[in-house]
Amino acid sequence: MARVFSGVKPTGHLTLGNYLGAMRKWAEVDQHRSDALFCVVDLHALTVDHDPARVRRLSRQAASLLLAAGLDPERCTVFVQSHVDEHARLSYLLECVATDGEMRRMIQYKEKAAREQTRGGSVRLSLLTYPVLMAADILAYGADEVPVGNDQTQHVELARDLAVRFNQRYGHTFVVPRATSPGVAARVMNLQDPASKMGKSDDVGPGIVYLLDDPDVVRKKVMRAVTDSGRGVVYDREARPGLANLLEILAACTGGEPVEMAGAYDSYGALKKDTAEAVVEALRPVRERHRELCADPGYVEGVLRAGADRARGMARPTVDAAYRAIGLLPPVAAAAADAVR
Ligand code: TRP
Repeated sequence: MARVFSGVKPTGHLTLGNYLGAMRKWAEVDQHRSDALFCVVDLHALTVDHDPARVRRLSRQAASLLLAAGLDPERCTVFVQSHVDEHARLSYLLECVATDGEMRRMIQYKEKAAREQTRGGSVRLSLLTYPVLMAADILAYGADEVPVGNDQTQHVELARDLAVRFNQRYGHTFVVPRATSPGVAARVMNLQDPASKMGKSDDVGPGIVYLLDDPDVVRKKVMRAVTDSGRGVVYDREARPGLANLLEILAACTGGEPVEMAGAYDSYGALKKDTAEAVVEALRPVRERHRELCADPGYVEGVLRAGADRARGMARPTVDAAYRAIGLLPPVAAAAADAVR
């Protein structure tokens, strides 16, 4: 059975883009066909200016939303990254395999560092090394498949390169992973700016539908989505991106095809209204389950504790093997030490 690993970063509220683009498929497909781990990657939230209380709150919320979206702790492992030391342990070893040049070539680093510098801020060293920690997340579990959006494929490529290089230098230790694309209905774009992705958790604005938005807020955001100036309702991603986005959201929520959806409408108004209702309906069960989970924080804590225990058990042997392979002296177990004495 394939081992699947993916992560959500608790830097912002989860969006409709995260749900339709990733989480829904994890719940409906991946957890049933594979041995899957889904991780709230809280260490990654510390790479940019952060508020400790907010990271804590968003981490708890992300975990609850993963469960609310249908991840079943009986079928997959849901846990918080910082609860399992193996990520940080392995990350350091991989820093000894990665190069400085390799890190500075990462597109996301270049973009985020440039943005930070134009604001006059400083760039945390962890922003540069972030992709190494991400590689550790993946390699610690021997994941074969990593479902991620396009913006993360370069990071998964790096994880592959590091796995291959480590194996060549120090002996076979890691499974070489590959990025898998979430497939159709995956790319939900910002309703106010259909050229940029809605999933970006650190953006804010009226073009982003959050999973926990009230139904009326969802309706308002969809009704105010920018459309294009062309005539009629046709599905054309290039020429009519705003309209195409609405058609794709509607199709993703109702299980149809965007082209067929286009044929069913002759006005933007009707399309927006139906899309708004479809989104509200798609999010309703998630909101309801989330509310139930919030009323029972002990349950979520229990799931995360059991998830971390299971994850640790999976990662430990691989990370210990990497420690030995790279040349670190194994600690002597207490019983053996006594015997020597
Ligand atoms: N970097 C990913 C993002 O920003 C989150 C992430 C961290 C991740 N570690 C991972 C995704 C491991 C997949 C596998 O979305």
